[in-house]
Amino acid sequence: MNVLVTGGAGYIGSHAVQRLLRDGHRVVAFDNLYRGHARAMDLLRPGAAGRLEFVEGDIADKALVTATLLKRDIDTVMHFAALAYVGESVEQPMRYYHNNVTGLISVLEACEASHVGGAGGGEVAGVARFVFSSSCATYGQPPEGFVPVPETCPQSPVSPYGWTKLHGEHILRDFAEGRRLKGVPFGYAMLRYFNVCGCDRSGVLGEDHDPESHLIPVILQAAMGQRSEVGIFGTDYATPDGTCVRDYVHVEDLIDAHVLAMGKLRPGQAMAYNVGIGKGYSVREIIDAVRKVTGREFRVVEKPRRAGDPPMLYNNPAKIRSELGWSAKVTDLNEIIASAWSWFQKHPKGYGS
Ligand code: UFG
Repeated sequence: MNVLVTGGAGYIGSHAVQRLLRDGHRVVAFDNLYRGHARAMDLLRPGAAGRLEFVEGDIADKALVTATLLKRDIDTVMHFAALAYVGESVEQPMRYYHNNVTGLISVLEACEASHVGGAGGGEVAGVARFVFSSSCATYGQPPEGFVPVPETCPQSPVSPYGWTKLHGEHILRDFAEGRRLKGVPFGYAMLRYFNVCGCDRSGVLGEDHDPESHLIPVILQAAMGQRSEVGIFGTDYATPDGTCVRDYVHVEDLIDAHVLAMGKLRPGQAMAYNVGIGKGYSVREIIDAVRKVTGREFRVVEKPRRAGDPPMLYNNPAKIRSELGWSAKVTDLNEIIASAWSWFQKHPKGYGS
């Protein structure tokens, strides 16, 4: 397939590019390099046998996205480009709506444009499949009886970030219906990620965010002495040890779900799956696991709750298991942390080192 990966130089997007290249696809990675890394592309290029192209641009630039789709005969889009910090979205909601919602609309309009007037003025095949990065943040705090969380859980976000992803799901649904009425069926998959973590186990790609606020990399930075302490945001939740519980899914397993969805998706079809291992770990459990894997000590400080954090979220993977045949291969928390620790040790300053 010819796949456009938006956000292809970012943490999750670059892992998707790596996997798609391994599977023999032609890939165009599209990224504005605001939080992505050109270096990740440089690292992937030698093994790509000419099948990787990088386009630096913003998804809001509809003309550039359209031109890229047409030029490379793209048939599938994996849309990762988004701002993805829950806390930041509470502080800067409009920025999140602009980037995540308007950005998605721009990419979808480009997909629509890719169906009319190909290079020679004639009809081109255009984009028939779209895999969208959604989030378990669309569920907010699930009501009683919905943890572990099935796809049928009511979607009621508690952060602007979660709302941008839920709006994205609705926009996709309506876009696909519009395409169907025009006789151009469009298939889409919405994958609702739980907490993505870990690094490519072949050691090439890593996780390099600036600023970094995700729990596992934050603790690893403390283990390396790059932070003076780790704060636990809230110790008075109604959870077994008072700290928030999350489902930590390895990034390569997450990408596996994308590949399975892409392979099964037919024009006109809609899919929605949660992607998480089906087990929750508390913040304290993650801290203990990092201590064990790294053998390092660091200071831990109890802090107030962080706005927008639901106390307990972990997946019920029954649907994705039975329909896509997906299950997480990396389920050992220590292995997940070890894959990240190994990259962090080799790249103490991220891709710049
Ligand atoms: N946490 C701390 N201290 C830190 C960082 C995080 O206690 O220094 C806690 C948070 O409060 C939360 C948990 O660790 O309870 C996980 O926090 P992350 O910031 O790592 O992840 P989030 O759960 O906030 O967000 C992630 C992704 C989102 C996704 C969301 C779904 O970043 O894209 O999971 O829950 F939508």
